[in-house]
Amino acid sequence: MPRRTALTELLGIEHPVIQAPMGGAATPELAAAVSATGALGSLGAAVLPPDELVRQAGAVRAATDRPFNVNFFCHQPPELDASGAARARERFGPLYRELGLGQPPEPSVPPIAFDEARLAALLEIRPAVASFHFGLPDRAAVGAIREAGCRVLSSATTVAEAEDLAERGADAVIAQGAEAGGHRGSFLVAGDDGPVGTLALVPQVVDAIDLPVIAAGGIGDGRGLAAALALDAAGAQIGTAFLACPEAAIHPLYRDALRSTRADATTITRAFSGRPARALHNRATEEAGADPLPFPAQLSMSGPLGAAAAERGSGDFLAMWAGQAAPLARELPAAELVARIVSDAQHVLAALAD
Ligand SMILES: Cc1cc2nc3c(=O)[nH]c(=O)nc-3n(C[C@H](O)[C@H](O)[C@H](O)COP(=O)(O)O)c2cc1C
Repeated sequence: MPRRTALTELLGIEHPVIQAPMGGAATPELAAAVSATGALGSLGAAVLPPDELVRQAGAVRAATDRPFNVNFFCHQPPELDASGAARARERFGPLYRELGLGQPPEPSVPPIAFDEARLAALLEIRPAVASFHFGLPDRAAVGAIREAGCRVLSSATTVAEAEDLAERGADAVIAQGAEAGGHRGSFLVAGDDGPVGTLALVPQVVDAIDLPVIAAGGIGDGRGLAAALALDAAGAQIGTAFLACPEAAIHPLYRDALRSTRADATTITRAFSGRPARALHNRATEEAGADPLPFPAQLSMSGPLGAAAAERGSGDFLAMWAGQAAPLARELPAAELVARIVSDAQHVLAALAD
């Protein structure tokens, strides 16, 4: 049975569940399957070029007329300095040689920041929801997006970040706890040290701002959704649990690793992208995280290494983003997973009400 919250009202959805946008992993098939259930599906759009984003959004629309979410990264692209680049090549040298890749490439900055072209694509697509990571675009862009009829969401990892997002025009705030898989959405704090857990963060954000709050991080089943609602969140954004769905696009080695993982097998690392993100522990998190290039330039060094190792059947250097609830993930089609999470949460809440 649908459960109404401030979030379902705001977004025009039936279930207070958002399938997290997951760069690379969240396909149009996944987003469409989730949206069709009445929850909110999201494209892993942040890393897509604008024309591919428009194509993927079209594929979601062709499959369902329900609301869906398109997501972007709001970082400032860095300037690379020659000495940092030289140090990175030196550090990655032995690993590249070990994998027979020769000399590491000259570092570069992948063009994945929200920009004019992505804004134009977003305004062309006009999804029901546009979400951002690492803050929000400037006020003019936020105004244009809202005027186009999109609800604007972004992630906060502290109360101050939530207040900042509220002040800059967000319609709802995702309170992302330390347990979360993938990049920390932090933009006023560095995000590596002392990240606040979901249980502590959500009620503090609820108390601080006058907007619907969405809990994220470590929510892997109906018990987690019920807990988020008990904390006064208006819904939950769930990432890692959807990685096990057949509709998610992840490398078979990554899928296997998730099957056998433990809650303590993840770590927050800058090894892959240069920004703190939670991933399964492997040789890359152990050996490639020191003195990283600024986000997202580190990807230009870590990406080829991960791909080459994976080609040889090893996940040693693969970026396998995952949260602490990974062992709760069930290998179900996305629609079944949403139905299970929603009905289990209802049972938990009903049992607690007795
Ligand atoms: C594989 C993966 C990729 C992610 N990519 C993004 C992304 O592109 N944009 C974003 O806003 N959040 C991204 N996240 C973070 C999620 O939005 C969310 O905060 C997180 O998944 C919640 O924690 P959980 O994984 O424990 O459910 C990603 C998470 C995972 C697991």
